[in-house]
Amino acid sequence: MKQIVVLTGAGMSAESGIRTFRDSNGLWEEYDVMEVASIEGWRKNPELMLRFYNERRKQMYECLPNKGHLLLAEMEKDFDVKIVTQNVDNLHERAGSTHIIHLHGELSKARSSVDPNHIYDIGDKAINPGDKCEKGSQLRPHIVWFGEEVPAMEEAVKIVESADILCIIGTSLNVYPAAGLLHYAPYGCPIYLIDPNPPFDLPKRVQVIAKGAGAGVEELVKRVKQV
Ligand code: APR
Repeated sequence: MKQIVVLTGAGMSAESGIRTFRDSNGLWEEYDVMEVASIEGWRKNPELMLRFYNERRKQMYECLPNKGHLLLAEMEKDFDVKIVTQNVDNLHERAGSTHIIHLHGELSKARSSVDPNHIYDIGDKAINPGDKCEKGSQLRPHIVWFGEEVPAMEEAVKIVESADILCIIGTSLNVYPAAGLLHYAPYGCPIYLIDPNPPFDLPKRVQVIAKGAGAGVEELVKRVKQV
């Protein structure tokens, strides 16, 4: 089976009702990213950050996977599909995809703030000040914040390097190291990018499908059958 690697960003979940970050009305228009999504912010005001992620976790469970998520899961019938997502929602999982790497963490998990190996499934529960891990430290969201390493990056690079086809969906390619993954695609590996407003200055080899995730993945399914 051919291996399709799919790199997704916030635009993948836009049609499910989850806000992106840098579109108009994006999250970073309303919040200061360094206050609510950075390790500095956590040190300064952990209560604010707990509230920010509790809100996003609650909202995630009010949303459903969209057609794009569902079609990617269905593609597993004909391809070895590996999803590398920047998204912290669980919509790929809930759509039925089975091989997913979360580069920036997962809203449905909490972890110890002193030992990153202590990770806990919390589903839609809030994390409140005073909630402690088994080592007695404050629990934090299992999210990779600005200023922190991306532990899954090495695994993600290996997967992109072994892709037969790479598809990028719904990301402005603004944030590294995730945005650099496309450069690891093997020579000759077709690269598709699905986005109604595609980023500028893409490498010539990238074939743009200027549509939303749902219609875009529908188009992708047709195109990859001819590869
Ligand atoms: N279908 C597909 N793409 C869409 C849709 C849609 N319906 N709606 C918007 N988009 C596209 C936008 O055109 C944009 O290119 O999704 C992209 C969203 O870009 P960002 O908001 O920058 O999100 P993302 O690229 O995922 O951000 C990367 O930044 O703040 C951090 O950790 C956060 O993982 C996030 C990272």
